[in-house]
Amino acid sequence: MSKSQAEKWLHRLWLIAGSVNIRVKILGIVLGLVFLLGFTVTVQVRQLLAQSMYVQLEEQAVSITRDLAARATDPILINNLYALQQLMLGAKTTHTVVRYAFVIDTEGYVLAHTFAGGFPEGLIEANTVSAQAYEHTVLLQTDEGQIWDIAVPIFDGRVGTARVGVSDAQVVQTINAITGQLLLTTVLVSAVGITAAVLLTWVLTRPILALVQVAKAVEKGDFSQRVPRWADDEVGELSNAFNAMTEALAKSDAERAERDQLRAQYVSGFISAQEDERKRIARELHDSTSQSLTSLMIGLRALSDSCLQPDMRSRAEELRAVASAALDDVHSLALQLRPSVLDDVGLPEAIKRHVADCQKRNSLNIDLAITGLEDCRLPPAVETALYRITQEALTNVIRHAKAETASIFIERSNDKVLAIIDDDGQGFDPEFVERQDGHLGLYGIRERAELLSGHLVIESEPGTGTSLYVEIPLSQK
Ligand SMILES: Nc1ncnc2c1ncn2[C@@H]1O[C@H](COP(=O)(O)OP(=O)(O)OP(=O)(O)O)[C@@H](O)[C@H]1O
Ligand SMILES: [Mg+2]
Repeated sequence: MSKSQAEKWLHRLWLIAGSVNIRVKILGIVLGLVFLLGFTVTVQVRQLLAQSMYVQLEEQAVSITRDLAARATDPILINNLYALQQLMLGAKTTHTVVRYAFVIDTEGYVLAHTFAGGFPEGLIEANTVSAQAYEHTVLLQTDEGQIWDIAVPIFDGRVGTARVGVSDAQVVQTINAITGQLLLTTVLVSAVGITAAVLLTWVLTRPILALVQVAKAVEKGDFSQRVPRWADDEVGELSNAFNAMTEALAKSDAERAERDQLRAQYVSGFISAQEDERKRIARELHDSTSQSLTSLMIGLRALSDSCLQPDMRSRAEELRAVASAALDDVHSLALQLRPSVLDDVGLPEAIKRHVADCQKRNSLNIDLAITGLEDCRLPPAVETALYRITQEALTNVIRHAKAETASIFIERSNDKVLAIIDDDGQGFDPEFVERQDGHLGLYGIRERAELLSGHLVIESEPGTGTSLYVEIPLSQK
């Protein structure tokens, strides 16, 4: 396997291991180790046992055959075939491993055997031993399994050969029994391992799950929860550290909330003082300056009417036109500062007049649509905020957007009022602008909306125009 392939497999393994929970991981490790241990021990024990038992079996078989060969000498010499037969049968019944025993003379004739159903064909030729050898062993594969056939010469081969066949059935049985025992032990140990692993994961994961639960609460802004300290180990330390962190967060959150409240108080005080001041100046302009200018115009008209000299008369007319223009300016200024219609006839009319004024002064086409406000008034604070927001947004379009068309859409629904001001101008990067100092217009829009629990969303990027979405909730009464 190449290096990159190995890395790929390792990565896959890591992905699988990472995707399962700790309980499965610990169970996997415990079961894997127990099975590995059980399997290797079983295989090794089986091998060693088989080795030594087969050696023992062979030794036992040789010794049985030698004994038989020694004891068969006399019956053969005196030609007592009955005694020889009894000797064979005795050997078979005494030793359970012996499957058969027989004796052949030097010519290869069978003198006695233990086969009840006839002597098997070809068995004599399967094993031979020379007179000089002590014995000769051959492994035969039969229907009954493996048979070790041992041939030992009788009386140095001068009277014949003793042959004994031993089977490994008992050895196989013993090895299988021991293997079964070992496997059973493995299964039992696995069961104990699973119980221990479940217990261990419970002990380990309980504090971690508690930690996760508290972390989720903290994520949602609930700093009141604490992680219980289950033990004095590393997880206990982690719980302590986490609790300390939550306390610090709670403290800084409280400080931040306090600062926010103070700032909101300050901003709302500032805005309402500004509104009061604008209102006062607008009233002053209306009541005093407009009245004076109107009186001046009336006076100038009277003067021009009574004047007989034509150049004096035209001079008076010119002055009256200047006074009239000044009166228009004062009206427009007063309208911008605080449109009295906002108090008298409401927001739609005030915005309509402001839009008309803007269109008159600039080459900008403005579409205006206001719905849901036909026969109801919004709270004064909301009306003022929406008027100022629209005013600032339009000022921005005129000053920065280089737009041909702008549109203002205001919609009141049951529980909120939505204002959308957009233009087809050059757009800008809101994030970049927010990082810069010295721009108060958008900041003011956001503040006014947020003071009334609303919010502002700016959608713009260079080259695509700008849309401002302002939403202000209306409290249900
Ligand atoms: N409709 C718009 N189209 C293009 N650029 C805009 C638009 N509105 C705002 N901007 C950009 O965002 C900036 C910030 O606007 P903001 O109203 O906060 O400040 P300002 O208009 O520069 O100054 P002021 O404090 O007098 O309002 C502007 O300088 C302008 O670059
Ligand atoms: Mg501005």
